[in-house]
Amino acid sequence: MQSLIYYSKAKVNFTEEQIAELVVISEQFNRSQNINGFICFRAGYFVQYLEGDVNTISSLYQRIKDDYRHDVLISLTKPIKKNLFNKWNMHFVDHKVLDELNLEYFLLGQFNLVNKNIVLLDTAKEFIWQGVHLISQEHGKQKQPANKYS
Ligand SMILES: Cc1cc2nc3c(=O)[nH]c(=O)nc-3n(C[C@H](O)[C@H](O)[C@H](O)COP(=O)(O)O)c2cc1C
Repeated sequence: MQSLIYYSKAKVNFTEEQIAELVVISEQFNRSQNINGFICFRAGYFVQYLEGDVNTISSLYQRIKDDYRHDVLISLTKPIKKNLFNKWNMHFVDHKVLDELNLEYFLLGQFNLVNKNIVLLDTAKEFIWQGVHLISQEHGKQKQPANKYS
């Protein structure tokens, strides 16, 4: 199995309705392909995490990357033994959760460096994966599959 996280800059103005639509479409497709993950949207930037079969992830990521509505600034991949997010197919992670988990430091702060054209060192990448783990612990606490938009 493969996990992939990327950081991208929106090229169009996404309204809350458009984000909701994107999440619903993504969730449906990802469920059909046994892909799990989450997506965050803040101040015009996306962070999306995907996990699943290596070829499935790769073809989906290709399609996402080619989407004219955003520009991917960086992506990281990592092989995994089992999925971390088996209850979420494409869960929308709210700002509040990010703030509560101190992800400003673990996830967003690192990606912010990318925005300033700073090359990420391995330690910075490790912080990003730690951020994913923190979100997966939060995910583990939920009893039901849940999505703000579905
Ligand atoms: C930030 C972002 C994340 C996306 N994530 C997914 C996703 O997880 N799954 C998915 O099927 N489509 C996702 N999409 C939508 C795809 O890029 C694409 O528009 C959609 O799958 C329809 O593809 P098609 O027009 O080639 O049929 C995402 C788009 C954006 C902009």
